[in-house]
Amino acid sequence: MIEKIKRLVAEVAAFETDSSEVAEEFRVRLFGKKGEITVLFEQFKEVPVQDKRVIGQELNVLKTLAISKLKDIQEKFKKSFKVDLSLDLTLPGDPMPLGSRHPVSLVKNQIIDIFSRLGFTISTGPEIEDDWHVFSALNFPPEHPARDMQDTFFIEQDPDILLRTHTSPVQVRVMEKQKPPIRTISPGRVFRNEAISARSHCIFHQVEGLYIDRRVSFADLKQTLLFFSKEMFGQDTRIRLRPSFFPFTEPSAEMDVSCTLCGGKGCNVCKYTGWLEILGCGMVDPNVLDNVGIDSQEFTGFAFGMGIERIALLKFGIKDIRLLFENDVRFLRQFTSAL
Ligand code: DAH
Repeated sequence: MIEKIKRLVAEVAAFETDSSEVAEEFRVRLFGKKGEITVLFEQFKEVPVQDKRVIGQELNVLKTLAISKLKDIQEKFKKSFKVDLSLDLTLPGDPMPLGSRHPVSLVKNQIIDIFSRLGFTISTGPEIEDDWHVFSALNFPPEHPARDMQDTFFIEQDPDILLRTHTSPVQVRVMEKQKPPIRTISPGRVFRNEAISARSHCIFHQVEGLYIDRRVSFADLKQTLLFFSKEMFGQDTRIRLRPSFFPFTEPSAEMDVSCTLCGGKGCNVCKYTGWLEILGCGMVDPNVLDNVGIDSQEFTGFAFGMGIERIALLKFGIKDIRLLFENDVRFLRQFTSAL
């Protein structure tokens, strides 16, 4: 055995190669499963005790030598890695133009982010709706003007199939399926039969909010909207609630935020009032709860709805809502680094 080890030591010491395949073969020949060094270590277990010291030492010399030899050869290959001179590594790379998010998506995502932090889930519903979900379940009386062809795009009549005029029908769909507690927001596209101008469009986006549980109060609504407004428009933002009317809430209110441009001093954006109207809200009318089979004696809730375009116009200082629908890339490119 000792001769074999010595022979291998000499062989390893003398080994040289320029080929990585030969080096790999050599490694396997020594350290592979049936490699010579592996086998020698197996046989070493059978060596009589009195010979173990001498043979063990020689075996270790062989192993250390083989490892350092293989390492040296590997290093040599690394160093001799040849640069392909036909490649010009100083050439500029291919440009990868960065896209930008649409301002409506930016604002929508920010609204979702803020309400997610308060535990609101996201729910959606169809854009083509029926009369029940858009109007009747929401306590609109039969003669309400919103049911008129002047305001609503009808697809079929009797039974009425129409394009939803607001995202409030998603409230109804959620409450029909889910028992309280409910805490959800519903972003989506809505349609109104309106002339297109700098201030209004026939297609736009809203986010609906709904919170139903035991003992939900107007104070909860106010605090939620204050938190939202500060997160959205800055920590100095103040809010004010003005009494209003919606068929599906009682009491109802409209919420203003202190002007995002002048901070409340008065400017032409807020028409020198210091306030900007942002959303409608209120306590869910008990009739609505009863319509969807939620016990209005046991549960209360609040709801709110806001227009995404309106917030985008205010936040980014855009003067004409039509810019948001024309998709002129010169306009859209300005939002590459926004938010
Ligand atoms: N749906 C209303 C609209 O389109 C907005 C709204 C107002 C939604 C009050 C609500 C609410 O949930 O409570 O003008």
